Amino acid sequence: MSEKARPEVTGFYDERTFSVQYVVADPETKRCAIIDPVLDFDEKSGATATINADRILKFVAEKGLSVEWILDTHPHADHFSAASYLKEKTGAPTAIGEHVADVQELWKGIYNWPDFPADGSQWDRLFAEGEPFKVGNIDARVMFSPGHTLASITYVIGDAAFVHDTLFQPDFGTARADFPGGSARRLWQSIQQILALPDETRLFTGHDYRPGGREAAWESTVAEQKAKNKHLVEAKTEEAYVKLREARDATLPMPKLILAALQVNMNGARLPEPEENGRRYLKIPLDALEGAAWG
Ligand SMILES: [Fe+2]
Repeated sequence: MSEKARPEVTGFYDERTFSVQYVVADPETKRCAIIDPVLDFDEKSGATATINADRILKFVAEKGLSVEWILDTHPHADHFSAASYLKEKTGAPTAIGEHVADVQELWKGIYNWPDFPADGSQWDRLFAEGEPFKVGNIDARVMFSPGHTLASITYVIGDAAFVHDTLFQPDFGTARADFPGGSARRLWQSIQQILALPDETRLFTGHDYRPGGREAAWESTVAEQKAKNKHLVEAKTEEAYVKLREARDATLPMPKLILAALQVNMNGARLPEPEENGRRYLKIPLDALEGAAWG
């Protein structure tokens, strides 16, 4: 089957983290991939839950799908990934981009984890740039899309591309590039590669912040993004974009879960091991990140 096969894409919006999780299915074989699933975490009480992931599992069961892949586009800074939980439930392999090792290297210093294996061995498969794979009979491939993080990738599955934190919906613009390892210039280059896909390619974003209080939305096309993306309309060259992006990023506080989320997500979405009392603890480094918004 050609790359233009049309997978059935279902988005699951998480209000709490403004994230969109996806089930991408080949209608012919009923095989599917889950992309960027969220493990619920309430930072106020420290409680974790599997509400989002269980909603996805219920959908998969109701549709009679079998899970072939559990994919993350990058180590998220604003929510825990449910990849490890979903692997436990489905037995499907987990995957992420191979540059996750660079992110692990960077963050193992921040968390002072000298023994942490920064080799991506926490996932079943590490994808390289351009690497092909399949969802059922549908051809898929990986595009390296750094900028938001060092490890970000886009999954191109048939006529659909899962771009996560690069382009958002046209009325919101593009993702921030100021986390450790981020780069506005690389993000611009990654965005250009996404926009070089055929105009009719369906683009599915990883977040929607519902500007102006509109309904959550997550699907666009390459043509729509070229014509209407707020940041790209305003900044037509790499230089102009880098200026705009960096100016905007300087005003943004760090995501509230970054220090909690990275230590889980860089470890293949595993929660910290319980201590001898059976309880799990997060480790929060002080004064490790710049970007406090003191007001
Ligand atoms: Fe992100």
